[in-house]
Amino acid sequence: MIKITNLTKAFSNQKVLDGLDVAIKKGEVLALVGASGAGKSTFLRSLNYLEQADYGSIAIDDFKVDFQKISREEVLELRRKLAMVFQQFNLFERRTALENVKEGLKVVKKLPDTEATKIAKEELAKVGLSDRENHYPRHLSGGQKQRVALARALAMKPDVLLLDEPTSALDPELVGEVEKSIADAAKAGQTMILVSHDMNFVYQVADKVLFLDKGRILEAGTPEEIFKHPKEARTKEFFANYTKTYI
Ligand SMILES: Nc1ncnc2c1ncn2[C@@H]1O[C@H](COP(=O)(O)OP(=O)(O)OP(=O)(O)O)[C@@H](O)[C@H]1O
Ligand SMILES: [Mg+2]
Repeated sequence: MIKITNLTKAFSNQKVLDGLDVAIKKGEVLALVGASGAGKSTFLRSLNYLEQADYGSIAIDDFKVDFQKISREEVLELRRKLAMVFQQFNLFERRTALENVKEGLKVVKKLPDTEATKIAKEELAKVGLSDRENHYPRHLSGGQKQRVALARALAMKPDVLLLDEPTSALDPELVGEVEKSIADAAKAGQTMILVSHDMNFVYQVADKVLFLDKGRILEAGTPEEIFKHPKEARTKEFFANYTKTYI
């Protein structure tokens, strides 16, 4: 069980996260949707301390930290438990796909080379890239690079995978292969928090959807409830733009 309590963050005078309480069960895919500027990225970034929340805490099983007084050791532990995949792939350009996936296993998990190689190869195979192990990022397509980034995150066996618009920088024809890999990981039981503007994908993959508006959860429910029977006027308006495409 992952429990986020009272997550609060302001930039200057603007409140971006307004005391959010969120619980996620093991194996669940939680999707965060909402308009641009609603606070979705700030939420994810605050969870693994790329941003420092003003208040709030996260509990991952027995590991509990208060973001206001988090220690350096706790930050490292938190980042071992949460892996993030960004919109941009953030791969090491001078390392091959395999070396990119091995990096965290060796540096963070301190695994011996043979074991890191074995795990990295398995994860690359899961995202369909066994034949690209020795390619450098510049010789990979955007979709392949993002699958390497996904393999790298999954190789760390994170308690929660954080995905911030993982397909929105891709050419449309490459979106499907990345979404398939994410859906495969979800089916295999990986707990995730997904931020996406791709409502078809959210509808397919999410167990629960939170609609965020000005740093608050305006509505929460299953994809069915939120997409097809939104209650709040703001949510109705937001989804009115999407209903045509998937219902
Ligand atoms: N480092 C920062 N300094 C100042 N303001 C920021 C910073 N990061 C985000 N903001 C502001 O916080 C608000 C929420 O931003 P955030 O990036 O979390 O939104 P988002 O929901 O991810 O939007 P999008 O869908 O466009 O990615 C915005 O008004 C943004 O301008
Ligand atoms: Mg964002």
